[in-house]
Amino acid sequence: MKHALSVFFLLGMAALGLTAFRLERREDLTREELGRLLFEDKLLSADRSISCASCHISAFAFGDTSAVSLGVGGQKGTRNTPPITNMSFRSSFFWDGRAATLEEQVLRPIENPVEMALPLSEAVSRLRADARYVGYFQVLYGRSPDTTALANALAAFIRTLETADTPFDRWMRGDQQAMSAAAVRGRAIFMKKGKCFDCHFGPDFTGDEFRNIGLFDGKDLSDPGRFAITKDSADLGRFKVPGLRNVAVTAPYMHHGAFRTLREVIDYYDTPDRFVPNSIGRDALLARPLGLTEAEKDDLEAFLHALTDDRFTRKP
Ligand code: HEC
Ligand code: HEC
Repeated sequence: MKHALSVFFLLGMAALGLTAFRLERREDLTREELGRLLFEDKLLSADRSISCASCHISAFAFGDTSAVSLGVGGQKGTRNTPPITNMSFRSSFFWDGRAATLEEQVLRPIENPVEMALPLSEAVSRLRADARYVGYFQVLYGRSPDTTALANALAAFIRTLETADTPFDRWMRGDQQAMSAAAVRGRAIFMKKGKCFDCHFGPDFTGDEFRNIGLFDGKDLSDPGRFAITKDSADLGRFKVPGLRNVAVTAPYMHHGAFRTLREVIDYYDTPDRFVPNSIGRDALLARPLGLTEAEKDDLEAFLHALTDDRFTRKP
């Protein structure tokens, strides 16, 4: 018994020691680290059941695996959760581009009734009632938690999720072995015959434009995309061109999450009419079938796999 007590005593001291160490370390907590704590904290949802990380899962490049994610109370959204790596250089956010900055974007899911459903004023009160957060915000922002600092910290964390170390990047830097022969052939198809590069260009494979690839028919496919924001009929069915880094781990695909695999995406681009016969306003680039052979589709798929950052291919 005495022995057991002294073990408890020692364990207790060890735990105290750890806490003391933690608190001390918090002094050099960065805004990015605070952002990560907030990103993973369920306190930011109405019933404390979900956090940003419930839908943006690190193992899937901060996307998720269902067509549309579930918010508080199991409510269904209408769009697929996009991966949020490589956001630093984007010029607009959401599939329809309705937020112009990351700081503006990150507060929206908190208030969104089918996502976290928590009024921002309530989010701030909860943070102010939490001694830990009060301390962190004081050290990092010189004031108690408010929406501006909350947005700043969340955005700072998201800006750390840049991925640039992929087989493709190493191949570009001159390592001939970094990509398979199939992926190298796939890159050529991506650039030319597949016309992918006409829309997916730049270091992150997007030029941040809004384009219509034919996933709007006004009936079964009724999400008007960019049009809902601009009310310009030319924008009907246009969506933000997503970047393609880590795309191999972010299935399902597109704003509606209806394509389950990269092969389905490639089959779609090859013959869009077979999937959506009466699409409205489809981009002229996709007016005719691409005429890809099965071998070319394999190669293109191999190239898309070469865009995965090693961080997402390792098991945690
Ligand atoms: C219930 C699931 C869910 C939760 C919780 C959630 N998101 Fe999202 N997120 C989405 C969906 C779905 C979209 C796309 C919505 C749209 O385009 O209309 C999105 C879009 C985004 C984008 C824009 C990505 C882009 O490519 O433009 C960012 C950044 C983001 N979320 C960050 C966050 C942060 C930060 C939180 C927590 C405060 C959060 N999300 C909570 C589902 C979720
Ligand atoms: C006309 C411009 C355009 C062309 C050409 C194009 N894309 Fe896209 N791509 C887009 C847009 C816009 C989306 C989002 C569409 C949506 O959700 O409705 C998209 C989405 C995707 C996605 C889904 C990404 C995700 O996170 O859900 C993949 C993968 C993709 N494209 C690969 C390709 C490949 C491979 C090619 C060439 C065969 C190609 N794209 C050609 C504009 C284009």
